[in-house]
Amino acid sequence: MKTIYLATFILIAFINIAYSYWIPRNTNVNACDNIINYVTYSDEKFVNYSDVKACYESIPYNKTKATQIIEAVKENFEAFYVLLEQSKEDPNPGFAFRSMDIIPELDLLLKNNYLYEYQFIYDLANLIGELRDRHTWLTSTDYHQYMFHQGLSLYSQIKVFNDIKDSSTIDCQVVYIDDKPAIDVITEFASNNTAWSRDLSVRFNSALASLYFGYGDFGIYGQLFTRRSQLPKNSSISYTLNCNDKITKIIREWQIHIKTLPQYKSPYINGTTVGDAKLIFDAFIARFYTLQDFGVVLILTEEVDDDEDDNVLEYHYITDIIFGLKLLADKGIKKIVLDLSNNGGGNIVVAHIINKILFPNIQNFPVDMKVNNISIQLIEGVSMNKSEIGDIFHYKSYISTKTNSSFNSINDFIGNNSYTRGGIQLKYTSKAFSNDTTSTFGSLTLPTPPKFPWNEKDFIILTNGQCISSCAILSQRLAEINVSTVSVGGFPNRRFSFASTSGGAQLTTNSFQSYFKLLKNIDNSLISKLTLPQNLTLSFTAFEAYSVNHPNEVLDFSFRPADYQLYYDERSARDPSKLWIQAVEFIR
Ligand SMILES: *[C@@H]1O[C@H](CO)[C@@H](O)[C@H](O)[C@H]1NC(C)=O
Ligand SMILES: *[C@@H]1O[C@H](CO)[C@@H](O)[C@H](O)[C@H]1NC(C)=O
Ligand SMILES: *[C@@H]1O[C@H](CO)[C@@H](O)[C@H](O)[C@H]1NC(C)=O
Ligand SMILES: *[C@@H]1O[C@H](CO)[C@@H](O)[C@H](O)[C@H]1NC(C)=O
Ligand SMILES: *[C@@H]1O[C@H](CO)[C@@H](O)[C@H](O)[C@H]1NC(C)=O
Ligand SMILES: *[C@@H]1O[C@H](CO)[C@@H](O)[C@H](O)[C@H]1NC(C)=O
Ligand SMILES: *[C@@H]1O[C@H](CO)[C@@H](O)[C@H](O)[C@H]1NC(C)=O
Ligand SMILES: *[C@@H]1O[C@H](CO)[C@@H](O)[C@H](O)[C@H]1NC(C)=O
Ligand SMILES: *[C@@H]1O[C@H](CO)[C@@H](O)[C@H](O)[C@H]1NC(C)=O
Ligand SMILES: *[C@@H]1O[C@H](CO)[C@@H](O)[C@H](O)[C@H]1NC(C)=O
Ligand SMILES: *[C@@H]1O[C@H](CO)[C@@H](O)[C@H](O)[C@H]1NC(C)=O
Ligand SMILES: *[C@@H]1O[C@H](CO)[C@@H](O)[C@H](O)[C@H]1NC(C)=O
Repeated sequence: MKTIYLATFILIAFINIAYSYWIPRNTNVNACDNIINYVTYSDEKFVNYSDVKACYESIPYNKTKATQIIEAVKENFEAFYVLLEQSKEDPNPGFAFRSMDIIPELDLLLKNNYLYEYQFIYDLANLIGELRDRHTWLTSTDYHQYMFHQGLSLYSQIKVFNDIKDSSTIDCQVVYIDDKPAIDVITEFASNNTAWSRDLSVRFNSALASLYFGYGDFGIYGQLFTRRSQLPKNSSISYTLNCNDKITKIIREWQIHIKTLPQYKSPYINGTTVGDAKLIFDAFIARFYTLQDFGVVLILTEEVDDDEDDNVLEYHYITDIIFGLKLLADKGIKKIVLDLSNNGGGNIVVAHIINKILFPNIQNFPVDMKVNNISIQLIEGVSMNKSEIGDIFHYKSYISTKTNSSFNSINDFIGNNSYTRGGIQLKYTSKAFSNDTTSTFGSLTLPTPPKFPWNEKDFIILTNGQCISSCAILSQRLAEINVSTVSVGGFPNRRFSFASTSGGAQLTTNSFQSYFKLLKNIDNSLISKLTLPQNLTLSFTAFEAYSVNHPNEVLDFSFRPADYQLYYDERSARDPSKLWIQAVEFIR
């Protein structure tokens, strides 16, 4: 509950869902026994589509329960979801999402006659997904599995990136998927069934596979088309491939993962070698390369350590980044590619600190949150407790943009701002910067970084649009002081976002239980209104960030295409150094 965190990196977050929770337990029917037996007694990694379907279909729709779920989702959204009303406004040109008033649409779901509970849960999760807000989703440990068909992952154009079942398909062009043109199928899937960005080009990238730099190594990211979280309607999928002008059609059964999730290790980049780039420092959470005459920096903005009392790793995280940059400076490196592709976010304070290391006078994006009778109870309750300083509801976690110092009182923080969003006047807290020193990271006494020889013209930020959350805060802030940006992939000749979901802290309904414990005079009816049935978790954006250059612009809704666009091909999809060489040309 302490610091201000954004969405944790998605693969990591999902691994935390223990597989043993995945079977619906609210049933006495035998249909789930097959799976339970497999989970318990066999070494199988996958179960059958039909077995899973039968198990799901043993749980009937319960309208009373559905109504309770809808009511709780509405209460949470209205009280805390800071982007709720603005989602009703037409998208900025460049974005692709359906503007909607989700509250009445949630009620409409209850008019459907579902047979099974999972159908309702899927519809609800998909409706929430239509907000295309990477911080806002519903998960059910009962119905949230991973559906793969073995191995195959795709990348733009559309080609087979990797296939652990049959390596002869690799790099074959995918012409048709289920007899429809592959590009249309992937585009429609990205448009309707992915929620990682308001920008369709970024969602298109998320449907396909690409490399990401994770903890100490490269892995495969995205691939949402071949790696589903909902049971597809059909138990198999067909791909028509063109392999050196030979046309073949393959059919792959969906397999549902149980036990441990597979490691998405990159099959192509191994360890530290990336093309001709020379690794000069491997900090596990960051890497520093030289290539030709320029430098390349890869950085994670994730959490490195959850233990709030042990700052050792956090300290090293930052000092390592300073050290790596200093190595580049000492080598006389003049231009740097900052590759933030497939960075799923993490800790916003990390983003702030990195920006300050590079540009010491840079100011953070201001933020605010919703003010209403429910949020006031949390702000007041949490703010009474000194040991909660650092929490997003504590007024001492912030610095007023008006005075550049902490708020004097809770009322000062709550303030009296009101804005019109989606046609409604709403109250928001006073605009504020997060006081980074109240977080574990920010409170570290770090060595003063040296003055680096670079200015904004010497960097280019390279991403594939999947630079999310704290990564978005890092990159969008640098772009506002004229650091260049380039995004890779998407559609031909359509410049697209280099970052997505720049808002602020993500709250989950799970975290509320610990808040409720802190609040002495909390109204019990409030707790029951906000609480979802067991095994369901709603996450959502709790604060919004504003541009510094355009102070009224909420970043989440502001379309900010990269300055330049690059494309993946057979080589660059597997060897990012090919992209680094192209990217640096833009800042020569
Ligand atoms: C939620 O999951 C837990 C753990 O698997 C299980 O014991 C419980 O029955 C589930 N609750 C519902 C309502 O399905
Ligand atoms: C999957 O289903 C098939 C046919 O229904 C059956 O033969 C097979 O044993 C099942 N496998 C598993 C892992 O359940
Ligand atoms: C339907 O859900 C409600 C509320 O969760 C519960 O009290 C009731 O027992 C459920 N009905 C059936 C038939 O399971
Ligand atoms: C995608 O959404 C559009 C617009 O709502 C709809 O017409 C189309 O049928 C959807 N496609 C799929 C595959 O769900
Ligand atoms: C399901 O997939 C199979 C194999 O790709 C295909 O033959 C069949 O037509 C599909 N069924 C539906 C309803 O799409
Ligand atoms: C990765 O490196 C290890 C050790 O250097 C080696 O055993 C392995 O074969 C390599 N894998 C690939 C895909 O190159
Ligand atoms: C709080 O509730 C009262 C009535 O219950 C209402 O008059 C007031 O406007 C509400 N305040 C906010 C900030 O929503
Ligand atoms: C303040 O919060 C801490 C946990 O952060 C908790 O242990 C303590 O009991 C709280 N104090 C009061 C007075 O609620
Ligand atoms: C607060 O700090 C910013 C940036 O350092 C500065 O531009 C601004 O004038 C300051 N405001 C006040 C009220 O001191
Ligand atoms: C930020 O918080 C720290 C610790 O609570 C406090 O000492 C400091 O004065 C605050 N910073 C500002 C600018 O108010
Ligand atoms: C709050 O703002 C409204 C206008 O937005 C104003 O009428 C009212 O006097 C303000 N209240 C306080 C306490 O400043
Ligand atoms: C960025 O560039 C614009 C246009 O060239 C210029 O007006 C602005 O002052 C620059 N901003 C910074 C922080 O250098």
